[in-house]
Amino acid sequence: MSQERTFIAVKPDGVQRGLIGEIIKRFEQKGFKPCGMKFMQASEEHMKKHYEDLADKPFYPGLCKYMSSGPLCAMCWEGTGVVKTARKMMGETKPADSAPGSIRGDYCIEIGRNIIHGSDAVETANKEIALWFKPEELFSWTQGNHSWIFE
Ligand SMILES: Nc1ncnc2c1ncn2[C@@H]1O[C@H](COP(=O)(O)OP(=O)(O)OP(=O)(O)O)[C@@H](O)[C@H]1O
Ligand SMILES: [Mg+2]
Repeated sequence: MSQERTFIAVKPDGVQRGLIGEIIKRFEQKGFKPCGMKFMQASEEHMKKHYEDLADKPFYPGLCKYMSSGPLCAMCWEGTGVVKTARKMMGETKPADSAPGSIRGDYCIEIGRNIIHGSDAVETANKEIALWFKPEELFSWTQGNHSWIFE
Protein backbone atom coordinates (compact mmCIF):
# COMPACT_ATOMS: atom_id res chain seq x y z
CA MET A 1 0.00 0.00 0.00
CA SER A 2 2.55 2.60 1.11
CA GLN A 3 5.00 2.27 -1.79
CA GLU A 4 7.27 5.23 -2.43
CA ARG A 5 5.82 8.03 -4.53
CA THR A 6 7.33 10.98 -6.38
CA PHE A 7 6.07 14.16 -7.99
CA ILE A 8 6.90 14.63 -11.65
CA ALA A 9 5.84 17.53 -13.88
CA VAL A 10 6.22 18.00 -17.61
CA LYS A 11 7.08 21.71 -17.54
CA PRO A 12 5.37 24.23 -19.87
CA ASP A 13 8.21 23.93 -22.44
CA GLY A 14 7.84 20.13 -22.46
CA VAL A 15 4.10 20.53 -23.05
CA GLN A 16 4.64 23.05 -25.88
CA ARG A 17 7.15 20.73 -27.50
CA GLY A 18 4.79 17.78 -27.53
CA LEU A 19 6.76 15.67 -25.04
CA ILE A 20 4.03 14.71 -22.54
CA GLY A 21 3.47 11.34 -24.18
CA GLU A 22 7.17 10.55 -24.50
CA ILE A 23 7.75 11.31 -20.80
CA ILE A 24 4.73 9.35 -19.61
CA LYS A 25 5.83 6.46 -21.84
CA ARG A 26 9.25 6.26 -20.19
CA PHE A 27 7.83 6.02 -16.66
CA GLU A 28 5.11 3.63 -17.73
CA GLN A 29 7.47 1.33 -19.63
CA LYS A 30 9.97 1.33 -16.77
CA GLY A 31 7.26 -0.29 -14.65
CA PHE A 32 6.29 2.60 -12.38
CA LYS A 33 2.61 3.11 -11.65
CA PRO A 34 0.76 6.38 -12.17
CA CYS A 35 -1.30 7.37 -9.15
CA GLY A 36 -2.30 10.91 -10.09
CA MET A 37 -2.15 13.05 -13.22
CA LYS A 38 -3.58 16.40 -14.25
CA PHE A 39 -3.17 18.97 -17.01
CA MET A 40 -3.27 22.40 -15.45
CA GLN A 41 -1.78 25.87 -15.39
CA ALA A 42 -0.12 26.74 -12.08
CA SER A 43 -0.24 30.28 -10.69
CA GLU A 44 2.97 32.17 -10.07
CA GLU A 45 2.13 32.04 -6.32
CA HIS A 46 1.88 28.24 -6.50
CA MET A 47 5.25 28.00 -8.27
CA LYS A 48 6.82 30.31 -5.66
CA LYS A 49 5.69 27.87 -2.98
CA HIS A 50 6.85 24.85 -5.00
CA TYR A 51 10.35 26.29 -5.47
CA GLU A 52 10.52 28.15 -2.11
CA ASP A 53 13.91 26.58 -1.27
CA LEU A 54 15.37 28.48 -4.25
CA ALA A 55 13.87 31.86 -3.24
CA ASP A 56 17.30 33.46 -2.75
CA LYS A 57 18.60 32.43 -6.19
CA PRO A 58 18.83 35.07 -8.91
CA PHE A 59 16.89 32.87 -11.36
CA TYR A 60 13.95 32.29 -8.94
CA PRO A 61 11.60 35.03 -10.30
CA GLY A 62 12.20 33.95 -13.92
CA LEU A 63 11.81 30.28 -12.99
CA CYS A 64 8.43 30.89 -11.32
CA LYS A 65 7.26 33.01 -14.30
CA TYR A 66 8.26 30.34 -16.83
CA MET A 67 6.65 27.56 -14.81
CA SER A 68 3.37 29.47 -14.65
CA SER A 69 3.48 30.75 -18.25
CA GLY A 70 1.45 27.90 -19.73
CA PRO A 71 -0.11 24.55 -18.91
CA LEU A 72 1.93 21.74 -17.45
CA CYS A 73 1.28 18.08 -16.73
CA ALA A 74 1.47 17.29 -13.00
CA MET A 75 1.94 13.63 -12.13
CA CYS A 76 2.44 11.32 -9.20
CA TRP A 77 4.29 8.03 -9.89
CA GLU A 78 4.73 5.12 -7.51
CA GLY A 79 7.20 2.25 -7.16
CA THR A 80 10.22 0.97 -5.26
CA GLY A 81 12.95 3.63 -5.31
CA VAL A 82 10.94 5.84 -7.68
CA VAL A 83 12.31 9.15 -6.32
CA LYS A 84 15.95 8.33 -7.02
CA THR A 85 15.30 6.38 -10.21
CA ALA A 86 13.14 9.16 -11.66
CA ARG A 87 16.00 11.62 -11.07
CA LYS A 88 18.33 9.28 -12.97
CA MET A 89 15.81 8.95 -15.79
CA MET A 90 15.56 12.76 -15.96
CA GLY A 91 19.30 13.42 -16.09
CA GLU A 92 21.12 16.37 -14.55
CA THR A 93 19.67 19.85 -13.94
CA LYS A 94 21.91 21.13 -16.75
CA PRO A 95 20.92 19.34 -19.95
CA ALA A 96 24.52 19.61 -21.20
CA ASP A 97 25.65 17.44 -18.25
CA SER A 98 22.87 14.90 -18.83
CA ALA A 99 23.76 11.58 -20.42
CA PRO A 100 22.20 10.77 -23.78
CA GLY A 101 19.35 8.40 -23.06
CA SER A 102 18.12 10.48 -20.14
CA ILE A 103 15.10 12.73 -20.67
CA ARG A 104 17.02 16.00 -20.37
CA GLY A 105 19.96 14.45 -22.24
CA ASP A 106 17.73 13.60 -25.17
CA TYR A 107 15.27 16.48 -25.43
CA CYS A 108 16.62 19.81 -24.23
CA ILE A 109 19.59 22.15 -24.24
CA GLU A 110 19.27 24.96 -21.69
CA ILE A 111 19.05 24.80 -17.87
CA GLY A 112 16.16 27.26 -17.86
CA ARG A 113 14.17 25.14 -20.34
CA ASN A 114 14.81 21.65 -19.04
CA ILE A 115 11.27 20.27 -19.67
CA ILE A 116 10.75 18.11 -16.59
CA HIS A 117 10.62 18.41 -12.82
CA GLY A 118 11.14 15.55 -10.38
CA SER A 119 11.28 15.55 -6.57
CA ASP A 120 14.83 15.31 -5.23
CA ALA A 121 14.17 13.25 -2.05
CA VAL A 122 11.39 11.20 -0.46
CA GLU A 123 10.60 13.94 2.05
CA THR A 124 10.43 16.58 -0.71
CA ALA A 125 8.25 14.24 -2.77
CA ASN A 126 5.71 13.91 0.04
CA LYS A 127 5.62 17.70 0.49
CA GLU A 128 5.25 18.31 -3.26
CA ILE A 129 2.54 15.68 -3.72
CA ALA A 130 0.55 17.34 -0.93
CA LEU A 131 1.06 20.75 -2.56
CA TRP A 132 -0.09 19.65 -6.03
CA PHE A 133 -2.77 17.04 -5.37
CA LYS A 134 -5.87 16.79 -3.21
CA PRO A 135 -6.17 13.38 -1.51
CA GLU A 136 -9.11 12.46 -3.76
CA GLU A 137 -6.99 13.12 -6.87
CA LEU A 138 -4.58 10.31 -5.93
CA PHE A 139 -5.36 6.65 -6.47
CA SER A 140 -4.08 3.49 -4.83
CA TRP A 141 -4.69 0.65 -7.25
CA THR A 142 -3.21 -2.72 -8.12
CA GLN A 143 -1.61 -3.06 -11.51
CA GLY A 144 -2.43 -6.35 -13.22
CA ASN A 145 1.22 -6.92 -14.12
CA HIS A 146 2.57 -6.15 -10.61
CA SER A 147 4.10 -9.58 -10.04
CA TRP A 148 5.87 -9.38 -13.43
CA ILE A 149 7.62 -6.17 -12.37
CA PHE A 150 8.26 -6.78 -8.65
CA GLU A 151 9.59 -10.04 -7.19
N1 LIG B 1 21.70 28.45 -12.70
C1 LIG B 1 20.45 28.40 -13.14
N2 LIG B 1 20.01 29.26 -14.09
C2 LIG B 1 18.74 29.22 -14.55
N3 LIG B 1 17.82 28.33 -14.13
C3 LIG B 1 18.21 27.45 -13.20
C4 LIG B 1 19.54 27.43 -12.66
N4 LIG B 1 19.61 26.42 -11.75
C5 LIG B 1 18.39 25.86 -11.73
N5 LIG B 1 17.56 26.47 -12.60
C6 LIG B 1 16.15 26.14 -12.85
O1 LIG B 1 15.53 25.89 -11.62
C7 LIG B 1 15.02 24.56 -11.59
C8 LIG B 1 15.09 24.04 -10.19
O2 LIG B 1 16.43 23.93 -9.80
P1 LIG B 1 16.95 22.70 -8.93
O3 LIG B 1 18.25 23.08 -8.36
O4 LIG B 1 15.85 22.25 -8.04
O5 LIG B 1 17.22 21.60 -10.08
P2 LIG B 1 16.44 20.24 -10.37
O6 LIG B 1 16.03 19.62 -9.07
O7 LIG B 1 17.25 19.44 -11.30
O8 LIG B 1 15.16 20.76 -11.18
P3 LIG B 1 13.63 20.58 -10.80
O9 LIG B 1 13.46 20.96 -9.33
O10 LIG B 1 12.91 21.53 -11.72
O11 LIG B 1 13.33 19.14 -11.02
C9 LIG B 1 15.87 23.81 -12.60
O12 LIG B 1 15.24 22.69 -13.14
C10 LIG B 1 16.08 24.86 -13.67
O13 LIG B 1 14.93 24.96 -14.55
MG1 LIG C 1 14.74 20.55 -7.73
